[in-house]
Amino acid sequence: MSISIKSHREIEIMREAGKILAFVHEELGKSLHPGMTTWEIDRIGRELIHSKGCEPSFFNYQGYPASICVSVNDEVVHGIPSKKRIIKEGDIVSLDAGVYYNGYHSDAARTHAIGKVNDQAAKLIEVTRQSFFEGIKFAKEGYHLNDISRAIGEYAESFGFGVVLDLVGHGIGSELHEEPQVPNKAQEKRGPKLRAGMTLAIEPMINAGDYRVNWQEDKWTVTTLDGSLSAHYENTILITDGEPEILSLSQ
Ligand code: MF3
Ligand code: CO
Repeated sequence: MSISIKSHREIEIMREAGKILAFVHEELGKSLHPGMTTWEIDRIGRELIHSKGCEPSFFNYQGYPASICVSVNDEVVHGIPSKKRIIKEGDIVSLDAGVYYNGYHSDAARTHAIGKVNDQAAKLIEVTRQSFFEGIKFAKEGYHLNDISRAIGEYAESFGFGVVLDLVGHGIGSELHEEPQVPNKAQEKRGPKLRAGMTLAIEPMINAGDYRVNWQEDKWTVTTLDGSLSAHYENTILITDGEPEILSLSQ
């Protein structure tokens, strides 16, 4: 398989899928408050996606049992919503969601501070978000994939944070996960050359401490090995011959 180049028609659909996902994230972010369960976050997210006539991309994906991944504090990604898990002031909560619209997916994640968080947590959230923007400075026709990966990794590591290596971003389109894989740190090979019409989900996962992660008993939840905090930031983007278009951010 190779990296698909989306047609104008496909790009139009993915723009809409991205716009809807941006809306879902904005509304979900506003709904967060101490005392709510991660199960409620999932319900609100699912209802927002359905309210736009879309389906959650993640529900039942390889057996994933919910619509939104909700990962708290040392959970890196793929936290399973639970009626028993209550979020509280000082937590950081990563929300990862996907929207399936007219045969195409969009995928995006945000990490939110619940009320007042400590300085390290606030810094981690900001650096993780900014590492995405550092990466997409190279998301242009003519650069290679590894230019994006290097920029993300170098930026995050310059703050002493750990870049998660066991999970990566990905191509996206009619499938949630398409080629290529998008690592968040430089690889040995420069990777494929970027071309207009490629759509990528770029998703730095950054730990406050060690980069290594563990999988929990539930087979989904990924946590930091050392118990340090972790943040996640992701958007679906379109490569063009100029600046990339960030499909899952409302302008
Ligand atoms: N954003 C994640 C990813 O791109 C979430 C998908 S995993 C799922 O891989 F199973 F929850 F869908
Ligand atoms: Co993704």
